[in-house]
Amino acid sequence: MTAVVRIPTLDDLEVAGRRVLLRVDINSPIDPQTGGIADFNRIDKSLPTIRDLADRGARLVLIAHQGDTLDYHNLVDLAQHAAALSGRLGRPVGFVDDVAGPAARRAIKALGDGDVLLLDNLRYLTEEVSTFERDVKLTPQQMAGTYLVRNLAPLFDCYVNDAFAAAHRASPSMVAFQEVLPTAAGRLLMTELEALSAVADSPQRPCLYLLGGLKIADAFGMLGKVLADGTADEVLTAGVTGQVFLLARGVELGAASEQFIKDRNLWGFVDEAEQHLSAHAGSIRMPLDFAVEVKGKRVEVTVDDLPTEHLIVDIGGRTIAAYAEAIARAATVFVNGPPGAYENPSAQAGTRALWQALADTPAHTVIGGGDTVSSAKRFIDPDRIDVVSTGGGALIRYLSGKPLPLVEAMKAAAERFWESRRR
Ligand code: 3PG
Repeated sequence: MTAVVRIPTLDDLEVAGRRVLLRVDINSPIDPQTGGIADFNRIDKSLPTIRDLADRGARLVLIAHQGDTLDYHNLVDLAQHAAALSGRLGRPVGFVDDVAGPAARRAIKALGDGDVLLLDNLRYLTEEVSTFERDVKLTPQQMAGTYLVRNLAPLFDCYVNDAFAAAHRASPSMVAFQEVLPTAAGRLLMTELEALSAVADSPQRPCLYLLGGLKIADAFGMLGKVLADGTADEVLTAGVTGQVFLLARGVELGAASEQFIKDRNLWGFVDEAEQHLSAHAGSIRMPLDFAVEVKGKRVEVTVDDLPTEHLIVDIGGRTIAAYAEAIARAATVFVNGPPGAYENPSAQAGTRALWQALADTPAHTVIGGGDTVSSAKRFIDPDRIDVVSTGGGALIRYLSGKPLPLVEAMKAAAERFWESRRR
């Protein structure tokens, strides 16, 4: 059996007077009207590592992405991120509108002890966009030869990664600096990995997964793994995921809801739901009733009343009570995806009540995914949840049992780090 290698943390690095390159994930939703940052969660969660390194006298350079070619609306420069960091840290955070060219390199060389500089959006470089990763498929060793790494790495003494939310991305900024620089994990990355391991590897029992929302591919990716290996004792399905399970059991929802599912190309999941049901019927719970909207008013229908001509928008009162009771008696609860279309006032009851149950339960609670976190913030104080993950895609991938490129790169770098300490 191979021993687990401890990933070095900030505490293992000498940083005073050294140039430290820190990869953060401050990719934030951008308000389409104002062009301003609409949610500061990831910026706030990145502060402890930045503060720690700057307080210890590092010459600190932050690299980060914002948006993507596939997410073009959010692909903006990082000047406002630097201003937000600066305001929150109470110390200046410089910004240069260059990623790895001459202006960036000049600014890096000019840093003094304790100075903090943010370079511009990594996604302005081809090698950092997700389609490059998908189509070109370089190894981390090959990525060490990319423009970004070739130009920046020689200027630094060490590299820190604190970007858990981008851990599913095998881009040079995430996995290649580890090849050429002593590497450590930031505080947020460690917290996220430890918290997720508590949900995915050794949960307190009973362990409950509540899977709702529209991102059914994500829910199904996790379902297969957590039921097959026994991580989850019970899965509560809600949102469109719950509806697809009922279809798999032969329940007709009605034309409007079935069309909604077909329009989003989700009908194919009905077969997959059937397979999950035949393998794990006893562990998968489905809604007992729903809410539909009739002339702007919430009306509840039981599953026995289906099909309904109206579009299903939420789970109903009996389901809310049953799921809230399960959440109250669980020891671990992981939630991904709101149970209803919570932006609509007639469809809020399910999300409001279950997030309240989550806040009240003594269980260890973990939530993640953009929609889940923003809906939780709307209805409860998110501080009442034990772990509010910054991860979306990274979290799903982790909980689906697939390796995260960042974690693989950090483990490989850890071996080299401890090896060089032994020499
Ligand atoms: C996210 O928002 O999930 C991360 O910041 C990664 O962004 P990406 O999906 O554009 O790579």
